[in-house]
Amino acid sequence: MDYNLSEEHLMIQQAARDFAQNELLPGVIERDEKQEFPAAQVKMMGELGFLGMMVSEEYGGSGMDTLAYVLAMEEIAKVDASAAVIMSVNNSLVCWGLEHFGSEEQKQKYLKPLAKGEIIGAFCLSEPEAGSDATSQKTTAIDQGDHYLLNGTKNWITNGGTADVYLVIAQTYPEKGHKGINALIVEKGMAGFELGPKEQKLGIRGSDTHSLMFTDVKVPKDNRIGEDGFGFKFAMKTLAGGRIGIASQALGIAAGAYELARDYSKVRKAFGTEICNHQAIAFKLADMLTQIEAARHLVHKAAWDKDQDNNYDTSGAMAKLYASQVAMDTSIEAVQIHGGNGYVKEYHVERMMRDAKITQIYEGTSEIQKIVISRSLLRD
Ligand code: CAA
Repeated sequence: MDYNLSEEHLMIQQAARDFAQNELLPGVIERDEKQEFPAAQVKMMGELGFLGMMVSEEYGGSGMDTLAYVLAMEEIAKVDASAAVIMSVNNSLVCWGLEHFGSEEQKQKYLKPLAKGEIIGAFCLSEPEAGSDATSQKTTAIDQGDHYLLNGTKNWITNGGTADVYLVIAQTYPEKGHKGINALIVEKGMAGFELGPKEQKLGIRGSDTHSLMFTDVKVPKDNRIGEDGFGFKFAMKTLAGGRIGIASQALGIAAGAYELARDYSKVRKAFGTEICNHQAIAFKLADMLTQIEAARHLVHKAAWDKDQDNNYDTSGAMAKLYASQVAMDTSIEAVQIHGGNGYVKEYHVERMMRDAKITQIYEGTSEIQKIVISRSLLRD
């Protein structure tokens, strides 16, 4: 077993680290405070190839593997978890879904500009009454011959206001349950498609989250992804990879909070010495680093499974479950190590603590990850 990263992986990691330090770090506190989308930085991420990392070059992507993607995600999330989720949704949920299940025309028309970062995408599954229980879709897509008539509301949609392309999951044949669901490509500006107000959030405040309302939106049949009734499987397969992306976001938050706490503990003095010399602090740092390393192994294993074409439903769910817990625990400890300074914005760790919480909620709560893992162990 070789734990060394290849030259190429090390280069990508370094490029993401440089980008995060040089372009994301300045202004991250202000963007959080004002709930400001990092538009200029997202544009640069597109130019650097971070928005279509796993898409083949033929369709405008960087043609890299999942390991490269999680390495870049970790570095970006260390500094700005909002930028990381924008990147994750575009890569894992939108581009990956379109490349693997979209038609050639859909790839030419939508995937190419998405993979180059010329536009960004959103993935629209959650509804007021269907978040965890994803089969209970109330949004309907009624077959009208050459188009679907889309009606309903989607909630908590990442990139909701800034996306140009939306992958919308909707029920076409309610009597068929999950087998009657379709995934449709909806464009911003289609008649009857309206945005709800921007959500005022606890964390990842630089990312832009909205409700979406569809009233008799005519979506051409050509915009359906896959066979009639494939929508639920499309969502599940796509989310399985998305969870690896969110696990790497959580890992980045944890590692970023740890590094700040470690560095602070080496300069802050109390009782006549730097606080890292007190076991109360040193043992906290030792626990944090051990948990982060364990989370990193799970994230890399899930990425490796995906790159090997192994089933990654369980390893991805394990990575997300554990890394999101580590993000929460580590960021709380980082605030504690910073003492009073941890509670004010300029030290960053209070933001990381707020950002960490969402990683236990979106793309399946921790409880959903346990359902996925326990079902697999009962199957084996
Ligand atoms: N790959 C392929 N097929 C899958 C699958 C997978 N990973 N998981 C399930 N399926 C299939 C099953 O095989 C089954 O098909 P058959 O009937 O043909 O066998 C079908 O889907 C239904 O599966 P289940 O019976 O397991 O469905 P369920 O109702 O019990 O739900 C669940 C399973 C895992 C709980 C699922 O509902 C789920 O993942 N819920 C969470 C949804 C979620 O992550 N929401 C977050 C929103 S997205 C988001 O947050 C994006 C963002 O903006 C950041």
